[in-house]
Amino acid sequence: MSSKKFYITTPIYYPSGNPHIGHCYTTLACDVVSRYKRMKGFDVMFLTGTDEHGQKIEKKAQEMGITPKAYVDEYVANFQKLWNRIGITYDRFIRTTDDYHVQSVQNIFVALYEKGFIYKGEYSGKYCTPCESFWTDSQLVEGKCPDCGRDVSDAKEEAYFFKLSAFADRLEALLSDEERGFLEPKSRVNEMINNFIKPGLEDLCVSRTSFTWGVPVTFDPGHVVYVWIDALSNYITALGYMNNTYNDFDHYWPADVHVMAKEIVRFHSIIWPAMMMALDLPLPQKIYGHGWITFSGAKMGKSTGNVIDPFILADRYGVDALRYHLLREMPFGADCPFTNEMMLTRVNSDLSNDLGNLVSRTVAMVIKYFDGQLPPDREPKPIDDELTSMLSALRPFVEKNYESLHISAALAEIFKVISRANKYIDETAPWVLAKDDSSRVRLATVLYRLLDAIRIVSVLLNPVMPNTMPEVWRQIGADESMTEWNRSDEMDVLSRSCRVSKGDILFPRFDIDKELEELSAIFSINQTTKPQPEKEVLSENVTKPFKQSIQYDDFAKLDIRVARVISCQKVPKADKLLDFILDDGQGQRRVLSGIAEYYNPDELVGKDVLLLANLEPKKIRGILSHGMILSADTKDGYRLAGISSDSEPGDEVC
Ligand code: ME8
Repeated sequence: MSSKKFYITTPIYYPSGNPHIGHCYTTLACDVVSRYKRMKGFDVMFLTGTDEHGQKIEKKAQEMGITPKAYVDEYVANFQKLWNRIGITYDRFIRTTDDYHVQSVQNIFVALYEKGFIYKGEYSGKYCTPCESFWTDSQLVEGKCPDCGRDVSDAKEEAYFFKLSAFADRLEALLSDEERGFLEPKSRVNEMINNFIKPGLEDLCVSRTSFTWGVPVTFDPGHVVYVWIDALSNYITALGYMNNTYNDFDHYWPADVHVMAKEIVRFHSIIWPAMMMALDLPLPQKIYGHGWITFSGAKMGKSTGNVIDPFILADRYGVDALRYHLLREMPFGADCPFTNEMMLTRVNSDLSNDLGNLVSRTVAMVIKYFDGQLPPDREPKPIDDELTSMLSALRPFVEKNYESLHISAALAEIFKVISRANKYIDETAPWVLAKDDSSRVRLATVLYRLLDAIRIVSVLLNPVMPNTMPEVWRQIGADESMTEWNRSDEMDVLSRSCRVSKGDILFPRFDIDKELEELSAIFSINQTTKPQPEKEVLSENVTKPFKQSIQYDDFAKLDIRVARVISCQKVPKADKLLDFILDDGQGQRRVLSGIAEYYNPDELVGKDVLLLANLEPKKIRGILSHGMILSADTKDGYRLAGISSDSEPGDEVC
């Protein structure tokens, strides 16, 4: 029976592209802490999910001529597939399109409105579309978006506002309370106070009328709830706050830690606690904002490209190697570059040389000198003491650092002890002891000390490398009771006459040059050169796999017709959209298509196109589109799907 609860969250990610190594880092860090807490007997709730609304996703879906929901479904599935692949043990996955979340957000919006913390006004400001952020002039950097460096544009609309300004004093007190330690690392506290609170907190725009892909404001149709109220609320709606789907709010709230990278710390350490204050709810215990994984100096992300495919790395080098490298390499709070070369070098040196060799040498010696089973007698010597004292100090150090998300520091310390154990082999030279029959007891003592050291480090490493450590335990003959977390600072827990078993190599060594060559062929990019700035996500550039097979009946539901273009023009203020009037053989219909970048509207008049005629009509940019024009997604962009010249409008494609 678990007595203490622990609630940890990742950000909910935008499913506007495939997940990448950056998303992996945050999610892995939370996974390690969750696994560690579970090993300590905590009742853990580990929440992750996806943030699916907003203009950016609406636009991308429009460009592809599909619904936003169909668009996000595919990417959400990829996030879930990746989390399964890399062993993420989340307890709950929230999608902001889940009905219960939508319902809760609507209730929260009404509650804030009724309490007077949300009011109606007009918003005008500088807007960065890719980041979905409005900025004040003072926040712009050289006139550009401070987050992504892109152009911003003037925007104005009727909107609801959240009275963020009313909470400025309480927020400043919260952030500057050192003992409370609300925001980690501490270096971010001054940034929040000096850059955002001190210059004057402005009320926050929390609704939009310029797009429809969002949670509708119940009492004012035409408005949808704008990103942060919708997104941040996930941390409580997923527990059942203001909905009947879950009933965990009283048990798990407040969160013990919300983990994220630095660019969204502002929202979590200012807007989120203000929302909690407005709703009279307890504040989360801690906000932890880590640094960025960078790639040739730039933040790796979906909008800027430069992505390394975590599926490929996990498949080639093993899930635990990927987990270990990311968590070991990233220091507390700072940015950290990622290259395949760094990963392979670390895997070879730490995992293959240090840990892998320690286990394989020790097990091999027990097999060679004692037929796999140690005799029970012992003869300790002072030379054992340094290793023993390092081992007994390890657990408290690791706990302190796992608790505070200094995972890299914990791993560095564990590997110091692993190196010390390897040195102990050289110092005690078991192969020399083995030559002398009178040293049998001493030889068994040395090997036992090593096996028990392996037990301790492997228990402490288990949250990071949960696939490999059970195999280590099998090889050293440790049963479940010997690998309990709470025994990882006890010495001599392995049975005195323990039996070892031979096993496969735990971490193979890689030929780095050969691997880099093969990887760069796969990624078609040499990581030592500059990333190509506006390249799309690399994992998306890999040939798209065929979709799951379907029955003929599924295909037969599609009504695809030949249609003739009667008129065609660009949609004002939409770079990618063309507005068609088509003759579909039975009449005329209006269809929008996201191919404006690839065709001149005039050249299309009189042409025949393929039309998905029975697609449910959909409002795009305020225009109702009745169907979808089919195109091929080629390396040069969209090209209209071809039709034989003797077909007529209305002909069915089957
Ligand atoms: O911001 N290095 O979603 P998002 C380290 N939906 N971590 C990285 C990273 C990198 N290069 N790139 C991404 C959003 N991350 C909002 C959040 S929460 C209520 C709403 C991780 O898909 C990191 O955790 O852009 C970062 O904060 C998050 O992904 C941003 O994910």
